[in-house]
Amino acid sequence: MTWQADNPIKVAIVGVGNCSSAFIQGLTYYRKFGADAPGLINVDIGGYKVTDIVPVAAFDVDARRVGLDLSEAIFSGANIAYRYPDVQVPHSGVTVQMGPVMDGVTPALAEFVEVADKPPVDVAKVLRESGAEMLLNFLPTASAEAARFYAEAAIKDAQIGFINGMPELIVCDPAYQQAAIENNVPLIGDDVKSQLGGTAIHRALLQLLKARGIHVERTYQVNYAGNTDFYNLVHRGQSKHKTKQEALSTLVSPETEISTGFSYVELMGDRKTAIFFVDGVNYGGAPLHFEAKLEVEDSANFGGVIADMVRFMKIGLDRGVSGPLHSASAVLTKHPPISIDEDGAAVQQLQEFVDGDRER
Ligand SMILES: NC(=O)c1ccc[n+]([C@@H]2O[C@H](COP(=O)([O-])OP(=O)(O)OC[C@H]3O[C@@H](n4cnc5c(N)ncnc54)[C@H](O)[C@@H]3O)[C@@H](O)[C@H]2O)c1
Repeated sequence: MTWQADNPIKVAIVGVGNCSSAFIQGLTYYRKFGADAPGLINVDIGGYKVTDIVPVAAFDVDARRVGLDLSEAIFSGANIAYRYPDVQVPHSGVTVQMGPVMDGVTPALAEFVEVADKPPVDVAKVLRESGAEMLLNFLPTASAEAARFYAEAAIKDAQIGFINGMPELIVCDPAYQQAAIENNVPLIGDDVKSQLGGTAIHRALLQLLKARGIHVERTYQVNYAGNTDFYNLVHRGQSKHKTKQEALSTLVSPETEISTGFSYVELMGDRKTAIFFVDGVNYGGAPLHFEAKLEVEDSANFGGVIADMVRFMKIGLDRGVSGPLHSASAVLTKHPPISIDEDGAAVQQLQEFVDGDRER
C-alpha cells in the first residue's frame, strides 16, 4: 500500500502529536478497508473520499520525531494515541521537519517534548515546494505565537488553505480573515468539535432540554484523560475553556451558569471520559437533575472530523473561495467566526455549500 491517489488532496501538518497519529492511522484504515468502511461522518464530500487525502509535509520540534518518516514519527516520543488494530501505516516519503519552537513547548510540556537541537527550516518554502494545498494546525493548546507564525506562513507566504484544529482564535480574527481574502485562500476554524465529543453531546442535551421547556439553571462538564493534550489543558487551558463554553452559551439563557473542567489522569492514556451535569427546572418550577457519561478514544475522535474538514476545504479551494468557510466552521469547530444556533440548520447550510448553492 502507498500514499498514491488519482486525484490527491495534498495536506501539510504542523504538530505530529496524538491527533496527527490518529488522523494518519485512520487514513490508512480507510485505504485498507475501503472509503465506505464505518466510522466516517461523510463517506463522499463533493466527490472526494477520505482515501484521496495524502500527506506531503509535516513539522514538529521533538527530537524523537523530527527527521523521521511521518509513518514512524506518529508512534514516537510521548505519542500514545489509540493503535488501530490491523493497520500498518506505510512509508510516506514525508520527513518530519523542524519548525520554530516559539511558545509551543512550555516548561510544563518538557516532560513530553524533547526539543530537537536543530535550526528551524523555512516553513513557507517547505510548504511551497511540497505542493501542499492546505496546512492543518495541530499545535498544543495555547501556542498562541507559534499558531500565528504557521498561519501566516500558510496564508500569506505559501498562499494555501489553513485549518485551525486548536483552540487559538485565528480564523475568528478579522486580520487573518482579511489576509485570507487578499491571498485568495479559504480558512476553517477555530478548534475542532470532536466527532462525538463533549461539546456535541452537551449541545444536543441542551437543545433537547430547551425543546422540552426545561429551564437550565446551571450546567457543567468534567473531562479527564491521560494524554499530552490533557496535561497541557490543565496547565494552559484558558483558551479551551473559552471555546468550549462559547459553543454552549448560544443554547441557553444569558443567566445560565456554565462551567467546564479538565483533569489529567495519567493511567487513562488517550481514553477520554466526559461527564455532563445539568440542574434545571421543569413544570411549575419542579427541580430536575441530569447526568450523562461518555468514554472515547480522544485523538481518534478528532481524526474523523479532520478527514471531513480537509474535503470541505478542498471544495473551497476548487471554487476559489477566500476567507472563512462559515458553514463548515459552524458544523465542525467549537468556535466558528459565525455560530449557527441550530445544529440542523448548520448542517443544512453545509450541504448547500457542497451542492454549490451557497458560497461558503
Ligand atoms: N479530541 C482531541 O484530541 C482534540 C479535540 C479538539 C482540539 N484538539 C486540539 O488539537 C491540538 C493537538 O492535540 P494533540 O493531542 O495532538 O496534542 P499533542 O501534544 O499530542 O501534539 C502536539 C504536537 O505539537 C508539537 N509542537 C509543539 N510546538 C511546536 C512547534 N512550535 N512547531 C511544530 N510542532 C510543535 C509537539 O511536539 C507535539 O508533537 C491541541 O491544541 C488540542 O487542543 C484536540
